[in-house]
Amino acid sequence: MAERSATAAPRADPEAELLRVGRALHEALPRPSRNPIEAVDRRAMELAAQDDRLRAALFRLVDVTPACRSLDDLAAHLASYLGEVERRPPPLETALRLSGSRAGRAALGAAAAAAVRHMAHRFIVGETPRGAMPTLRSLWVAGAAASVDLLGEATVTEAEADRYAERCADALDTLVEQSGRWPSRPVLERDSLGSLPRANLSVKVSALTPLLRPDAPELGRADAARRLRPLLRRARDAGAHVHIDMEAVDSLEATLSLVLELLDEEEFAEGPSAGLVLQAYLRESPRRLDQILEWAASSRRRPPLVVRLVKGAYWDHEVVEARQHGWPSPVFEVKAESDRNFEDLTRRLLDARPLLRVAIASHNLRSLSHAIAWNRVAGGRDEDLELQVLRGLGDHLMRALAAHGMRVRVYCPVGDLVAGMAYLVRRLLENTSNESFLYEQARGVPLEELLAPPG
Ligand code: 2OP
Repeated sequence: MAERSATAAPRADPEAELLRVGRALHEALPRPSRNPIEAVDRRAMELAAQDDRLRAALFRLVDVTPACRSLDDLAAHLASYLGEVERRPPPLETALRLSGSRAGRAALGAAAAAAVRHMAHRFIVGETPRGAMPTLRSLWVAGAAASVDLLGEATVTEAEADRYAERCADALDTLVEQSGRWPSRPVLERDSLGSLPRANLSVKVSALTPLLRPDAPELGRADAARRLRPLLRRARDAGAHVHIDMEAVDSLEATLSLVLELLDEEEFAEGPSAGLVLQAYLRESPRRLDQILEWAASSRRRPPLVVRLVKGAYWDHEVVEARQHGWPSPVFEVKAESDRNFEDLTRRLLDARPLLRVAIASHNLRSLSHAIAWNRVAGGRDEDLELQVLRGLGDHLMRALAAHGMRVRVYCPVGDLVAGMAYLVRRLLENTSNESFLYEQARGVPLEELLAPPG
C-alpha cells in the first residue's frame, strides 16, 4: 500500500492536480478479472447497453426469477423474453434453441438462475448482517469501511415497517459488537474533527413507514419519526453512525425535514453521528444544500452532519413519473449538466467544512479525482474527505482509492433476492446505461477524455 502524507502541499491549478490524481488512480485500478463467470457477466452488461430490447429482456428475467416455481418455468420465461429480441447474439440464439426440449429447459433454467444469483451476489454482501460480517471484515482489513443497507423499501403495512426497524436495530447491535474486534485502521477511524464510528448503517425512510406520501408529508414524517428515534438512541448509546438515504424526489421534503428536525431534538445533541444524502441530478439540489447549510450553521448539535453527495439512482423513475403527470422533469436530462452540478456541489461542500463532514459517492473517475484535487488545492487534508462507492460497481475504484491512502466506504446491501429486487434493478440500470462512466471506461475511451471537464 502506497502511504502518502496526510497533507499535500497546496497546488495552484485544480485541473492539473485533477489530471495527476486521475492518472495515479487509474494506474492503481486492478486489471479486469479472468474469472469466466465474471467475464460472462461483463459481456451480458455490455450487450444490454447496446440493445434496448436485450436490456428489457434482462430486466424482466431478473424481476421474474424469485417468483418462478421451477427451472422449467424460469427457462420458459427467459425464452419468451428472448423471442422479442430482434438481433440475438449467437449465445442467446443457442439459449433459445435449448428451450425447445424439456432437458434443454432444465439446463437453461439452471444457467439463468445461476446467472441471476451471481449478479445478485455481486451487489449484495449477505442475507443477514451476521452472514455479511466476514465480507465486511475483509473489506476493513483491505482498507475500506462500509455502510450496511438492509434491503427492502417502500413498505406497505405498519407491521412491515416495524419489522424493518427491528432488523435495523439488530444490524446495529451486530455491527457494533463484531466490528469492535477488527484490527485498527487509523485512516478509516479518524479525521481532523475526531473519531469515526466503525459501525455504519444506511436507512431508507420509505421502509420505516407505509405512510410516506407527497400529499400528506406530515403523516409519513411522524410515523417514520417514531421508528427512527429509537434507532438514533441505540446508535448514540453504542457509538454507531446512522445515515438516512434519499430516494425518489416525492419523498425528499418529508425525509429532509424529518432528519433535520429529529437531529435537533435535545436528546441527540451529543450524538449519534448521523448523515443524509444530496442528489446532484436534481435541479433543486443547490437550493437543498443552502437549506442544509443553514440548518448546520444554526444547529447546536455537536457531531457534524455527514453529507453524502451522490448523482442519484432514481433517474429513470423520475423521468417517467414527470412525463406521466405532464410535470417538468425534476432531474437534469443531459448527463453533463448533472456532472457539472456534482462538481459545483462538491466544491461547496468541501468549503463548508468543518460545519459538515463530506462524503463524495461516485463511480466516475473524474468526479472522484475532482474532489480529491479540489480538497488538496484548497489546502485541505485527505483525511477530511471520504469517498464512497457501491459494492459490485465500485470495487476496483475502492481498491485504487485505498491504495492511495484515501478513506473509502463501500455501500453494502444485506438481504435476500426478493427484498433486493428494486435495488438490483437500479444497479442494472446504472450498469447497462450506455452513458455511464463505467461503460465508457469498459469501451476503452482514452483516459484524457474520461478525465476531461463535463461538457
Ligand atoms: C440505492 O438504494 C444506493 O441508496 C442507493 O439505490
